[in-house]
Amino acid sequence: MRKAYIAGNWKMNMTPSEGVAFAKELAEAVKGLDTKVMVAPPFVTIPAVVEALKGSSIIVAAQNMSDNLSGAFTGEVSALMLKDLGVTNVILGHSERRSLYGETDQFINKKVLLALAQGMDVDLCIGETLEEREAGKLEEVLTRQVTEGLKGVSAEDMAHITLAYEPVWAIGTGKTATPEDADDAHAFIRKLIEKLYTKGVAEELIIQYGGSVKASNVKALMSKEHIDGALVGGASLSVEQFLPIVAFDK
Ligand code: PGA
Repeated sequence: MRKAYIAGNWKMNMTPSEGVAFAKELAEAVKGLDTKVMVAPPFVTIPAVVEALKGSSIIVAAQNMSDNLSGAFTGEVSALMLKDLGVTNVILGHSERRSLYGETDQFINKKVLLALAQGMDVDLCIGETLEEREAGKLEEVLTRQVTEGLKGVSAEDMAHITLAYEPVWAIGTGKTATPEDADDAHAFIRKLIEKLYTKGVAEELIIQYGGSVKASNVKALMSKEHIDGALVGGASLSVEQFLPIVAFDK
């Protein structure tokens, strides 16, 4: 049985003080719910949010991290620094990292392996652009991103991996994939994981959907067999909008 996993990616929003206010309100609001909840604040907001969430079950993740542990890498943040703050999870391969900052599957894979070696849990994002979907390349793109992104990841380490299927054309656009389209993509990804690993690994794997998830569409998405959670951007920035997503089954 896969436990529902709802994550909020704050992107470049929320100062430390805004993050604290939000985190305290959210922690209060999710008390008693048994959905797994994660928030991913910007780096500088992380320490304050970790502090504000002490004693809460909400997980704090980074939105990215360096492919190196330390050294002369100006502007980068390492897994060691994140762990020192108590951060246990990291989002890697978000489409904005891929498209705006040129991150390749190989580069993302290096970070995935580093995060796992550091004992962190990874939320690996994959998904096709509109151009790729219209050219009939959905399966080819997902196969490449999954195979390359997880290269060298053992079956045992797959327990520390969550995949987030985020069709690029649905991110921040208000356009959501239909629950059926999303579920088809998720089913394809699960089959692929079964081929790369085992049926057991595939069945245990949490696959989140991301791309304009909101209170009004979360139920339909989450009712699908292969959709186990959501990675939420815009609607994760206010408790008013995020809470009904977290409490989708209430
Ligand atoms: P969105 O972002 O919910 O604003 O579409 C999702 C994401 O980029 O993770």
